[in-house]
Amino acid sequence: MSAMTVNTLRKRKGTGEKITCLTVYDASFAAILDEAGVDILLVGDSLGMVVQGQDTTLPVTVEDMIYHTRLVRRGASKAFIMADMPFMSYATPQDALHNAGRLMKEGGAQMVKLEGGAWLLETVRTLTAHSIPVCAHLGLLPQSVHKLGGYLVQGRGDAAQAIFDDALAMEAAGADAIVLECVPAELAARITRAVSVPVIGIGAGRDCDAQVLVLYDMLGITPGKRPKFSHDFLQAGGDIRAAVRAYVAAVKEGGFPGAEHSF
Ligand code: KIV
Repeated sequence: MSAMTVNTLRKRKGTGEKITCLTVYDASFAAILDEAGVDILLVGDSLGMVVQGQDTTLPVTVEDMIYHTRLVRRGASKAFIMADMPFMSYATPQDALHNAGRLMKEGGAQMVKLEGGAWLLETVRTLTAHSIPVCAHLGLLPQSVHKLGGYLVQGRGDAAQAIFDDALAMEAAGADAIVLECVPAELAARITRAVSVPVIGIGAGRDCDAQVLVLYDMLGITPGKRPKFSHDFLQAGGDIRAAVRAYVAAVKEGGFPGAEHSF
């Protein structure tokens, strides 16, 4: 398999073959995921919760993200590497440019992901103008947990149109991918049909172009209750390599996510 690029990801959308993505934070796991054929390795700021043991993703720093992205980069040879921009690292377009540049130069990221809609359009345009691939994260935004009042499903009823409009606006501003987190499956399907860039879903139903899960959730090692949209692939798989291969196969064959993982 040749190395994934922003172009191969976009072409894949057109073929209907599902794209697979998992979060990952170190070189050893990155090598396992890469070998199993996971297309996108997301160095998520979820590392604040599952690796650092924090209550939210808010304390994660740019230095943390550069460090973990560099580790993942070392373990991967084929997969595409996306890194999260942490809370407050993209409060202005200039901050975003500076910090995204560091994630690419020092961490080896091939795309950066930021959480938010219309207020980020200028930022997405600025990054795009500087040849920085961007993924726009819409729906449930974990960095906004205190404003949202919890980790709650977004885009129900009348709120759907705002997320739909944001997705179109993000694509027009230059975003190369969109993550939809915890939104009704019907809204995610509508957005996936409407945009030409890959839509990566987490708790967003089976019709997205791609699926992503937090690695520690799908291995069943995150402390506490597993989110409804996740599944423990390790229980059935027996070992970590088999669990990752089972996830890749389930996404590609359409077996995951099922209705029980969707809203
Ligand atoms: O940080 C993360 O793990 C993420 C996923 C939930 C998409 O952004």
